[in-house]
Order: sequence, then structure tokens, then C-alpha cells
Amino acid sequence: MTTYAYSSQAPTEVKAGLLIVPVFQGPKPGPGTREVGLAKAYTAAKHTGKRGESLLVTRDDRARFAADAVLLVGVGPKDEFTVETSRRALGRAAATARRFGTVATTFPIAFGARRAEDAVQAAAEGLGLGDYRFDRYRSKRENGNGLERVVVLGNPAWDAKPLSAAVKRAAIVVDAVNWARDLVNTPAGDMPPAEIAREAQRMARSVGLTCKVWNESQLEKGGFGGILGVGKGSVNPPRMIEVTYTGAGNAPPIALSGKGIAFDSGGLSIKDAKGMETMKYDMGGAASILATMKAIAHLKPKINVIAAIPCAENLPSGSAQKPGDVITHRGGTTSEVLNTDAEGRLVLADALAFLVERKPKLIVDTATLTGACVVALGQGISGAMGNDDELIRQLIAAGDATGEPIWQLPLHKEYRQLIDSSVADIKNVGDRWGGAITAAWFLAEFVGDTPWCHVDMAGPGFSERDTDLSPRGSTGVPVRTLVRFVLDRAE
Ligand code: BES
Ligand code: MN
Ligand code: ZN
Repeated sequence: MTTYAYSSQAPTEVKAGLLIVPVFQGPKPGPGTREVGLAKAYTAAKHTGKRGESLLVTRDDRARFAADAVLLVGVGPKDEFTVETSRRALGRAAATARRFGTVATTFPIAFGARRAEDAVQAAAEGLGLGDYRFDRYRSKRENGNGLERVVVLGNPAWDAKPLSAAVKRAAIVVDAVNWARDLVNTPAGDMPPAEIAREAQRMARSVGLTCKVWNESQLEKGGFGGILGVGKGSVNPPRMIEVTYTGAGNAPPIALSGKGIAFDSGGLSIKDAKGMETMKYDMGGAASILATMKAIAHLKPKINVIAAIPCAENLPSGSAQKPGDVITHRGGTTSEVLNTDAEGRLVLADALAFLVERKPKLIVDTATLTGACVVALGQGISGAMGNDDELIRQLIAAGDATGEPIWQLPLHKEYRQLIDSSVADIKNVGDRWGGAITAAWFLAEFVGDTPWCHVDMAGPGFSERDTDLSPRGSTGVPVRTLVRFVLDRAE
């Protein structure tokens, strides 16, 4: 476990394994560079402060700093330096920091007092997220033990109280994001629906949330035909996880849902081998909601939040649902399953219908729902669709604030007819084009007029390669957005 702290100690006096200092491109270096006496060494190494540069200097007898080493990190021109660049630069620097175990950084001092809270939170987040490794399945730990302690340094003139709170918030967010990553990175063979549910219950117990898991026969009685239909082909039975946080008495809650497909083979509409390689990530939506609930339990905002998370494994077998089958969802709407690979909408439909019964203020769902959304927006941007532009705007704003980009796609009215069915109320696929939108239209059938925003995070949910903030695999997106959104709603 990493511990996090805020301090206004002088950079030169901090006793840490590594002190990380930013260096700007331009006449003035970053906060701390001169003090630690390394401005000359930096230019002597032919560095200019360009983004991506770094210089590691270890302490010797003449050193003017107390840390075992200083890492000078080029961050580009000062006027282009943002909280987001800072988070990412520290995410990258974490790879070096984890060798030293304890780390301090002066990064936030580069921002004025006005941005101090955001800057301090982002600095701690960058280090904590960049430190993440998934090595549970390696016979040898090559990665060391990671960060033991993170100290975020601020200007002594600043009020320490809100900044200590910002570091604490970052620690909670990092813990939640990295937990989501663990859930998602764990191979599907070890993370079937029942195990996701057990993880949820363990988490809920440890943070004091209420958690109810619906098993197969309870889902049967409750009329959850979508979850059951998708789960039918697997020996690992489906589940629905209900999590409740009460922070505002009996006020109407906000409601969350996330797609929890433990593994998506496509079912009888089977994917090819390549298409299946990453499908253990298909419960990334579910993990993001569970992690958000975990963070909320720690942060204790004055708001009520309920979550219903449908989990199933989509496999072909003699008992699998077949193309052409008609299922009845929670609440009675029927759908024709023409493509068993469009399974996410089938399980989410039940959960959304169930949440609407609770009369929530609004609903947000997250899902690795469509390849079409990845085609439209690439791997770095989630798609947002829904029936309430103001709600969508708030999610986009929360995403911008946390460095998890979201872009709105239109729920174009004319496309609704693409999911008209000749035998049931609706069918589960449209035609070839606009797949992210027809998928959202399917979900829209189940939310009635409750304000609702669907976040298709099929692109950003996992990464094929190492990024600034995470190694290859689950990124934990969009946990930071959701936590920020909930906190903003509570204020
Ligand atoms: N889980 C996939 C979506 C997906 C694809 C996520 C690639 C991440 C990367 C989803 O269940 C799916 O298979 N969607 C189909 C829908 C189609 C059959 C209408 C798709 O996008 O191809
Ligand atoms: Mn699928
Ligand atoms: Zn899927």
C-alpha cells in the first residue's frame, strides 16, 4: 500500500528516494531546479526542457538536496503547461520513482494558488496511476514493490488543509482506479460473473456499502430475460450486483450501471480469434461502476447513489441463445436477438429497467458496447449518448476535468427505426452503419424519460500499449470521470 501526503517542506530538505522536479522550455526552469543546484547540469546534458526529456542525478557529497536522487523532467513551455500534462509527466516518471520506493515532487508549485487543489490532486494521481503494474500472474516479480510513499510538495504560503484533502482524494481515486484495473486485467477464467459479485461483496463489506447479489433463480423470478439469455451458453451462471450508498437520507438517488460481460466470445454469432483476444475486458463498465462506488464510500459525499450491474458470460454451447430468439426483459419489453454478439445491450436493458423502477434522478451507464464507437472516436475518447443534453454536458465536463476525454454522438431520431423488429418490440442490431448510435437507441427503450447518459468506453477502457498513466491492459477509464461527476452533483 502506498501512503500519500502533502507537505510544504523545502524541496532541498525532503528526505525521499527520489525528488521529481519539472523543467520548462524557456528562460525560467521549473520550481526547485535552481534550489537543488541542477540547472547547470541540465543544460550541460544538452537538454532544453522539451516534453519527454529527463535527467536523473544521484546525490553525492556536494549535492544541495537531501533526496537520494533528483529526476528533472522536461515539460515544454510554461504557458502550455496544464494540470493534465503534469499528471501525465508524473505518470511516466513513476516508472523511475518506483525503483526508489519513496518519492516527492514539486510539480504543483508551478501552478498558482488558484489551481493548487487540482494540481496537487493530479500530481498524486499521476504517480499513483503510473505506478500500477499487473504482475500477479508472473512467477517472478520483476517489477519491485512499487511506491511506498508519495509526498506532494506545495508552496508554504498556501493553505495546507484543502491541499491535504486533495492528496487524500487522489489516494482514494488511485486506489479505486487500480482496483478496477485488477478486476479487468484478471483473466476471464478467474473472473466469472460469480467472482465479480464476490469481489463486489468483499469491497462493499470493507467500506460499509450495502450489496445484494441476484443469483440465477432470483433473476428468473425477477424477469431478467436479457441477463439470463446472454448467460445461458456458459457453465458460469449470470449475476446482478446491486450496490447502495446512502449519503443524503431519503433523497432520490442517482443511478449507475455498467456492462459486466465476464468474457465475450460473441456467443453463437462467434467472433474470430483476434476479436476475442481482448474480450476479458468486456466487464470494464461493471468494474468502473464498482470502483466508483468504492471511492464514493470513502469520500462520503452528501448524495444517494445506487448501482445495478449485470454480469454474464457470452459463450456458444448447446444451451446458448440463438440468433432469432426472442427474450423478455425486466419490465416486459421483448427483443429479437439477431446477433448474439450484440449482448451488452441485452444485459444492460434489464439493469436499466430495474433502476428506473427506483425513480432515480438520473442514470449513467458505462459499457464496452460497440466496436463502432472505437471506429468513430479511436482508443482515446469515449462516446456519450443519451436523452438529456445537460446531463451529457456534465459528464463531458467531468471527463475534461480528469483527463478522460468524452465526445457526444447524436441520438439521431431517424436511426431509431433501424432497431424495429418484425417479430418483437425491438431487435438487438441495426444495419452496418452507426452502430454506436443504434446500440444507444436500444438502451434508450429502457430508461423511459429518466434523464440518462450512456458512455461507450470500448476504446479507452483498455489500451493495446503502455500509456503515460497505465501499462498495457485495463486503464480504469472512466472511474475518475464518474467519481468527479458524483462529487460535483453532491455540491
Ligand atoms: N464487446 C463488444 C464491443 C467491443 C468490440 C469492445 C471491440 C471493444 C473492442 C460488443 O459486445 C460487440 O461485440 N459489439 C458488436 C456489435 C455488433 C454485433 C452489432 C460490434 O461492435 O461489433
Ligand atoms: Mn459482443
Ligand atoms: Zn461485448
